[in-house]
Amino acid sequence: MAREIHTVGVVGLGAMGSGIAQLALEAGFDTIGREVEIGRAEAARDRIAHFLTRKVEKGTLEQSAHDDAVARLRLTADVADLAGCDIVIEAAFEDLAVKHALFRELEAAVGEDTILATNTSALSVTAIASALRHPERVCGMHFFNPAPLMPLVEIVRAERTAEDVFEAAFALGSKLGKTPIRCTDTPGFVVNRVLIPLLNDCVRVLDETGVTPEDLDAGMKYGAGWPMGPCALLDLVGADVHVHASEALYEKLREPRMAPPARLVRMLQAGKLGRKTGEGFYTY
Ligand code: 3HC
Repeated sequence: MAREIHTVGVVGLGAMGSGIAQLALEAGFDTIGREVEIGRAEAARDRIAHFLTRKVEKGTLEQSAHDDAVARLRLTADVADLAGCDIVIEAAFEDLAVKHALFRELEAAVGEDTILATNTSALSVTAIASALRHPERVCGMHFFNPAPLMPLVEIVRAERTAEDVFEAAFALGSKLGKTPIRCTDTPGFVVNRVLIPLLNDCVRVLDETGVTPEDLDAGMKYGAGWPMGPCALLDLVGADVHVHASEALYEKLREPRMAPPARLVRMLQAGKLGRKTGEGFYTY
């Protein structure tokens, strides 16, 4: 029987989590956002309200829909407050030990039919689910940055994901206005398996050819039709997120292209993470 989803929980309200919460609110779901500190959750609500206000100003959202969406967002610092959720989407720090502790806490808090989804891009969904008494309730829902704008969501079937859990997550992806695709739990799923080594190639090309980030970006935008150049994209994703995902892919697949280029590792060590720190390939 298809599972009904009325209330969506989102754990971790950074760039990805707040984008996912925004999608859930815009799609009409009651939404509960959880952060470790309530101040961080409030900052996420301000970001969501800002983007929804921009939509009102641009005439793509009614003021009443804006007000309704913002009013449906509840914030908490306590996992126990997610008890009434039909699905919880986790978008917390990409560390297996952190995710295991969080998923155990979630399983203790929620009802037995609650789906637990992870937005992980670099970890195995099967490995995350292995911490639970009921790993069959876990699947991946991998969104792309910026989540409110990028049309794709990868729905990931882990080794023990139950069929109705997978299908409910797939249906939710559509209700959130996304194009969901069915993936298995392989390193990088589909998109990052292709995109991460490709972005690494782009960074190596910078060093091999001596071209500027501006020229490489213009090349890929105007010669290959990319919506933004690879350096601008890496600044958007963040050197920290990209290097971590790159290392995880390399560890599993051992192809030299998967390993993070030295230039990106140096940027990471220097705190030049991109937009989030004000400096990456470009300054912001
Ligand atoms: N959240 C919510 N709304 C946002 C937003 C965000 N993060 N960023 C922008 N918006 C809203 C803004 O209100 C903005 O309007 P405003 O500037 O008038 O206020 C509106 O969206 C439009 O923004 P832009 O003008 O910047 O939109 P563009 O038409 O230029 O498109 C883009 C931006 C969608 C990012 C486009 O450049 C693009 O498709 N880039 C490629 C991005 C990509 O490849 N992402 C995937 C990264 S890989 C990944 O995520 C995997 C992970 O595992 C690492």
